[in-house]
Amino acid sequence: MPIVLKSEEEIGIMREAGGIVARVLQMLVERLRPGTVEKELDEIARREFARQGVAPTFLGYHGYPATVCVSVNDEIVHGIPGDRVIRDGDVVSIDLGCTYRGFVADTAVTVGVGRVSRKAKRLIKVTEECLWRGIAAAREGARLGAIGAAIQERAESQGYSVVREYVGHGVGREMHEDPQVPNYGLPDQGPVLRRGMVLAIEPMVNVGDWRTKRDPDNWTVRTVDGSLSAHFEHTIAVTDGEPQVLTLP
Ligand code: MF3
Ligand code: CO
Ligand code: CO
Repeated sequence: MPIVLKSEEEIGIMREAGGIVARVLQMLVERLRPGTVEKELDEIARREFARQGVAPTFLGYHGYPATVCVSVNDEIVHGIPGDRVIRDGDVVSIDLGCTYRGFVADTAVTVGVGRVSRKAKRLIKVTEECLWRGIAAAREGARLGAIGAAIQERAESQGYSVVREYVGHGVGREMHEDPQVPNYGLPDQGPVLRRGMVLAIEPMVNVGDWRTKRDPDNWTVRTVDGSLSAHFEHTIAVTDGEPQVLTLP
């Protein structure tokens, strides 16, 4: 599939979708404390989306059974919220998407719950820096590889690794559109970025090995070596100037 460029009007709709999903994500983060049951997060997201008349993009996506992804500690992405209780010191990634007036917004954040180790705090901080450096590289005229190169450079310079088997993506009428947006690469690789491209930039950064494995539930992705992982994501639009972050509250 070719890369679909979005009009100003479509980007405006995506910014509204992004505001909704970002505010609900904030609510979920506020709910996080030792003792929170993962399913509570899913219930809140489902209720809020229904109240605001937006569709839960993840629910039913390739059979995914929930509205939110909750990935804890060595889980990287796509954790299914269940009866598990969040504990003091857990590193919790929450990923959320909604569909509003036919357009998707996709965003994720990682939070340390309660008393968190310095190692975990540092991983979370660096992964968020990776996201912002990736966003800063998403400029008209640059190549797509500049985004991954910026992310990879930040992560690896801090002794971390970037996940290869899962990547960011174009986003629009579908959650996953072309192009794929790797969190690694070289600045002279890939298509030239144009205004109107809307991308989900989402570094997944591990303390140890970059390789992943999948649980028997066929969704939960975790690090092969059991090391901690963090994930941040924004949906952004490439413009003729500064990249516009669409998933802000
Ligand atoms: N939101 C995830 C991403 O960032 C994909 C979730 S897959 C689903 O690409 F099945 F959980 F919806
Ligand atoms: Co996401
Ligand atoms: Co995404």
